[in-house]
Formats: sequence, structure tokens, C-alpha cells
Amino acid sequence: MQPLLTIGVRAARRAGDLIARSLTHLDSLKIDTKGRNDFVTDVDRKAEAEIIAIIRKSYPAHAVLGEESGRSGTSETLWIVDPLDGTTNFLHGFPQFAVSIAVEHKGRLECAVVYDPMRQELYTAVRGGGAQLDGKRIRVSSQRGLEGALIGTGFPYRMAPEHVDPYLAMLKAVMAVTAGVRRPGSASLDLAYVAAGRTDGFFEFNLKPWDTAAGALLIREAGGRIGTPSGADYALGPNVVAGNPKVYAALLETLGPHVPADLRD
Ligand code: IPD
Ligand code: CA
Ligand code: CA
Repeated sequence: MQPLLTIGVRAARRAGDLIARSLTHLDSLKIDTKGRNDFVTDVDRKAEAEIIAIIRKSYPAHAVLGEESGRSGTSETLWIVDPLDGTTNFLHGFPQFAVSIAVEHKGRLECAVVYDPMRQELYTAVRGGGAQLDGKRIRVSSQRGLEGALIGTGFPYRMAPEHVDPYLAMLKAVMAVTAGVRRPGSASLDLAYVAAGRTDGFFEFNLKPWDTAAGALLIREAGGRIGTPSGADYALGPNVVAGNPKVYAALLETLGPHVPADLRD
């Protein structure tokens, strides 16, 4: 295995084990609120500290961007870490959350790990080496368009009020032409599902680089597309459309008329 990936996998499994063990004492967790509907616990912080300690042991000079601790270091190699993606689910014992770790070198995504500690499913990718689930090659679905497609999304629960109606218009447009829409609640895992062909496409707005970086490489390496609602290539930005190539194109077309100007890129 590629050395960066070996370390990423070790860190993701270690954090995932900590998260899984913490589920047994959810009632005693101290929950802080970072913003409206934005929660953080000691589990998020401890998981991130574990991940960063493992990275630093092997790569002391690399930079890290972690959701909970921010950016540290100035290297051209940057680890992008969401220690617990799906904290709201976790807090409710709703078993859909993940650890997400990506490595970017000189602005290009090189390596991705998304680990689901409930199913113990490990999604990995190295640029140019394909995407894997538990070591087996995965591909995006072969769905030819939106008819019959299963689409993932994220509801705009932290979105500016003026964006709610446009989002509902998008949801309505997609619901009208697909087999179903799901809101599982962990963006990194939502993207991993597109890579694995479990869903055919995905769209969400106002995400952070740590929600999407690993999932983006998984999708590319699984033969899919990920970009902005205006059709530009994904570049760690907040607004994301993804899918197998056909569903990606169809989603851009269906969402396009409803996407407000400030959510296009
Ligand atoms: C959240 C999840 C969720 C998405 C939110 C993210 P967090 O991450 O990915 O699916 O809709 O926008 O903030 O806060 O649980 O790490
Ligand atoms: Ca997240
Ligand atoms: Ca998080």
C-alpha cells in the first residue's frame, strides 16, 4: 500500500474505533454548540487529536487542516481531516457517520480514506490507482440518467433563509424524475456511496473541504464526476454535484435553473 495511504488508514481506523466505543456512553457526552445546529463533542476532538498524532509521527513536516483544530503547518502536502462526519447522527445513535481523511499535494488530491466505523467499511483511493472498498475495486453505477436513479443530498439546515426555497425547488425537480432521494447525514459517506455505485448521484451546498475532499477523490478514481453546480471541476469548494458521468450531467441540467447565483461555485 502507498505509504500515505497506510498512515491515513491507520489514523481513520483508530479514530473510528474511538467513535464506536463512545457510542456506549452517549448520555454522558458533553455537547458544545459551534453554531446553530452545529455540534461538537469531546469525541470529535479526541478523534481528531488521535488522527493528527498518527500523521505527525510519520510526517512531522506535513500541514494539517482539521475541522476541530484548524490549520497547522505550511508544507505543500496537506492532510484534510474530518474526524467525525455526521456528528448529529452520532449524537442520536443513528448509525451513519464516518471518518474522512484526504491528502493534497501541491493542490492536487493524492490519497483518500473514508471509514464507516459502524459497518467497518473502509473506502480508499490513491490518485491513478482506482478506488477500493475493503480492498476491492469499486466503480460508480452504470445508471444512464435520472429516471430510476437514487440520489443523495444534504438538507440546508444551516443555509441562509433565502436559499431554502431554491433548495426545495431543486429537491422537487430531482424527486419528480428519479426513483428516490436520500439524506443520510454524512457527506463524506454520501460521496463514498456514489463511488461505490450505491447511489447514482449527489448534491449539497455549503459544505467544507473536510466533508468532501476524500469523497471527491474516491468518486474520480471510481470513474465518476464531481464539480460545482456551474459545471466547474471540484476544487474543495462548498457547493457540490457528483455522480456517474451521465447522472452528473443530468443533475447539472435539472438543478441548474434553480441554483441561486451565489451557490453556483
Ligand atoms: C456534516 C455532515 C452532513 C452535512 C453537513 C456537515 P459534521 O458534517 O457531513 O451530512 O449535511 O453540512 O456539516 O458537522 O457532522 O462533521
Ligand atoms: Ca463534516
Ligand atoms: Ca465533523
